[in-house]
Amino acid sequence: MTRSDAIHAASAAPIGVFDSGIGGLSVLRALRAELPQESFVYLADTGFAPYGERGDAFVRARTEAITAWLKAEHHIKALVVACNTATAAAIHDLRERYPGFPIIGVEPALKPAVAATRTGRIGVLATRGTVASAKFARLLANLQAQAEFIVQPCAGLARAIEHSVEPGVPGTQSRAEVEALCARYLDAMRPFGTQPGAVDTLVLGCTHYVFAEAVLRQLAGPAVRLIETGMPVARHTRRLLAQADALAAHAPADVYLLTTGHPQWLQAAATRWLKAGAPRSATRVHIPNPTQAAAPHLAASALLHGST
Ligand code: DGL
Repeated sequence: MTRSDAIHAASAAPIGVFDSGIGGLSVLRALRAELPQESFVYLADTGFAPYGERGDAFVRARTEAITAWLKAEHHIKALVVACNTATAAAIHDLRERYPGFPIIGVEPALKPAVAATRTGRIGVLATRGTVASAKFARLLANLQAQAEFIVQPCAGLARAIEHSVEPGVPGTQSRAEVEALCARYLDAMRPFGTQPGAVDTLVLGCTHYVFAEAVLRQLAGPAVRLIETGMPVARHTRRLLAQADALAAHAPADVYLLTTGHPQWLQAAATRWLKAGAPRSATRVHIPNPTQAAAPHLAASALLHGST
């Protein structure tokens, strides 16, 4: 194969996108808008969610297993880790393991929030795992002189949003759970608004929370700016692919939906949130959890160091 054949083959390959569940669809939506000619393989690791309430070693092991699987089974040309929790826990190790392979992560948009705030008070909603991570602590430390951050770990919210698309559960019941959690977490950072001392900017530091945007907007009020990361991540992905000369030219764009959980959940979420062009079916896949085979810490570390 000549070099130009190799680049051409790589260009037609899909981009892998994964999250612990349906949250990463908010990033996929932006990716498809920015890169309409690209094909995507979206993996929802719902069978092992929520990541935000597990330890770092567990999330790192899942991230590593999924990346290896997507590369081997789908020959992905790049990976978007569409999950703040997995990015915080695992992206450093992943980049070390696959040098030269384009890996794009997401992190809570604190810098754009600093640029946007007028009152200097910023609310941050994220999972327990993200908030507890060293990566987030560094990000926060670098910006703390420029604004006041009220950081709220939101236990249970990603799971409630996940359940809100569960077929068979009445819409009103699942919406009530999301609303109650959002109200509880936003109450901890009031007041909201544009007056001095109020929170005027809210960072959605988990990709799931984008799908609770309407509820959050209603609770926080129209003056508060909600900041998420889908579009900046999509633009960054385009830049990295262009640098690698790996943008698809005229490839027919496909989206494959895969899940380690219930295909109907992912299907329902994609139909609701991807709208036009949402794939008609999702497929269940099995990506073994290394913690099933051995003691969790042993299995995770063996996997990360490539000795299995
Ligand atoms: N969507 C993920 C994130 O962005 C995490 C959800 C979970 O806790 O599984 O952090």
